[in-house]
Amino acid sequence: MIASAEIKITPTTKSRLSEYDINNVPFGKIFADHMFVAEYENGKWSKCYIQPYQDVPMSYALSALHYGQAIFEGMKAYKSDDGHVSLFRPYENFNRLNKSAIRMAMPEVPEEIFIGGLRELLKLDQGWVPTSDTGSLYIRPFMISTDEAIGVKASDTYKFIIICCPAGKYYAEPVKVLIEHHYFRSVRGGVGYVKAAGNYGRSLYPTKLAQEKGFQQVIWTDSETNKYVEESGTMNLMFVIGDTLLTPALSDTILAGITRDSVLAVARDWGMKVEERKISTEEIMAAHANGTLKEAFGTGTAATIAHIRAIGYEDNLYELPAIEDRKFSPKVDEFLRNLRKGRENDMHHWMLQVC
Ligand code: COI
Repeated sequence: MIASAEIKITPTTKSRLSEYDINNVPFGKIFADHMFVAEYENGKWSKCYIQPYQDVPMSYALSALHYGQAIFEGMKAYKSDDGHVSLFRPYENFNRLNKSAIRMAMPEVPEEIFIGGLRELLKLDQGWVPTSDTGSLYIRPFMISTDEAIGVKASDTYKFIIICCPAGKYYAEPVKVLIEHHYFRSVRGGVGYVKAAGNYGRSLYPTKLAQEKGFQQVIWTDSETNKYVEESGTMNLMFVIGDTLLTPALSDTILAGITRDSVLAVARDWGMKVEERKISTEEIMAAHANGTLKEAFGTGTAATIAHIRAIGYEDNLYELPAIEDRKFSPKVDEFLRNLRKGRENDMHHWMLQVC
């Protein structure tokens, strides 16, 4: 762990915390008082500091802006009923960030910078962690290339930064999603399995087209056969068909979601049958037609569980059972919420108390 002495800390002289009701703010728009920064140059990480959250002067030649060497993570801190602040499975985010870094030819971030920097940041900004049942502090660690150069090559310099924002529910209501057949989120051999910024940029146009048709999100299918569902929007995708929990098997086109993994583990703990495999749109439509499609939902750090209320497929809309009639997803949602609040036995040791 990085000793706090190695991180130069400049605390804010004017906290903005009292300006907001942090239990009631829009997602991703209000930022906590401080940010953590680590700089990489000459082949090593150096200069770790925490400073008041602020804009920074930037060259318009910054390589991240032109060639997309930009990766990120999404994670959350929770305040338990007894006032402690804990992170949910932070080492999974740490490992995944470094997987993304390798794929994008960026340097890996050492544990003492990622976890150590985050610990120090949260000690300063613990007052920004919402106390409401559905609230959390959304944490955005990210890395960008910072060479000022227009030639296409991996940058020699990088910044790893952590910013935080109090957050409530990502989706206020269950969502309506459209199965997308023309545009693809990721391709074999591509970067779909990592959290590269470009994965999100390329999703925006098809999402906009779906939104113009009255849907909130799309369901992505595989680019090779166009037959199998992969993810929904920025989330992993799950179905309950009959008594089985189904989700697409991980591959190089699907992100290994931490919420995905947690939901599967809880389902297995509860004795539910779980299948990770290819799921075709035909299978989903057949299950809808014969009445065995009980639930569909997305999983992700920001959304946790986003219930899908209807699926659009080839100009038809397929309504799903009411949320009140769903047996698994509301229950697992509540279980994870309580676990994060310290009200459930943490049998998998997923929570890491930081202050
Ligand atoms: C997350 O769930 O953390 C995501 O990455 C989704 C989105 C906010 C980009």
